[in-house]
Amino acid sequence: MDDYFKSAHGRALGTGGPTCVTCHGSHAVATATLDIINKENCGKCHPYGQASAIKEAMRNTERLIVEIDGKINKFKGEGVDTGSWEKSLFSVRNRYHRLFHEVDTGKVIKLSGEFREELDGISKTLAKIDERGQRRKIIGAIVICGLLAAALITYLLKRTFDDISEP
Ligand code: HEC
Ligand code: HEC
Repeated sequence: MDDYFKSAHGRALGTGGPTCVTCHGSHAVATATLDIINKENCGKCHPYGQASAIKEAMRNTERLIVEIDGKINKFKGEGVDTGSWEKSLFSVRNRYHRLFHEVDTGKVIKLSGEFREELDGISKTLAKIDERGQRRKIIGAIVICGLLAAALITYLLKRTFDDISEP
């Protein structure tokens, strides 16, 4: 709400500016995503150009957030403790998602770089975990191969021994 009141939209409240409900709905409140920014919604009161520019500026960082979220969920499914990354991502995500209401394309572009740096940091730790998991899988495969070889040798030895000891 603070961001909204500071924005061109908030300043035009009562004189043609959109309210929360104009964009988010009232009874059928939809999940807030960048999809709200479309020609039909944003072209009603002014040309769509600026709206399109702000959407474009936000899209890449949004994509990174979704990508990292997917990775975290994958690790979670594999039983990795993802609590701290979830918290970091949640914090970045929430700060990022309130950026829209100022409807300030320049600011979004300027801050997107900083957000991306933070996200890259999370991405890098996740990549390290991925590497470690990969290494663990290879070691696991080697151990299993070793055990199988040992079982085979034991079996062959036993057969040879049984053959020899037969009267
Ligand atoms: C001009 C259209 C518009 C107006 C006016 C508007 N919003 Fe939004 N709101 C959006 C869009 C678009 C997003 C999604 C931004 C994103 O995905 O980064 C959003 C996101 C949000 C979110 C974030 C949800 C989340 O997932 O974190 C909240 C909360 C929210 N709006 C509340 C409000 C409130 C309260 C008001 C009025 C004070 C308001 N909005 C006014 C378009 C609008
Ligand atoms: C109910 C009318 C209305 C709707 C709907 C609306 N706007 Fe606006 N918008 C305004 C008014 C009024 C202004 C301020 C005067 C102007 O720039 O035309 C404005 C200004 C803007 C600006 C310029 C901000 C600045 O500081 O110069 C952007 C960007 C913008 N709107 C984006 C959007 C987006 C994105 C949506 C759709 C999610 C949207 N608007 C929907 C009325 C609306």
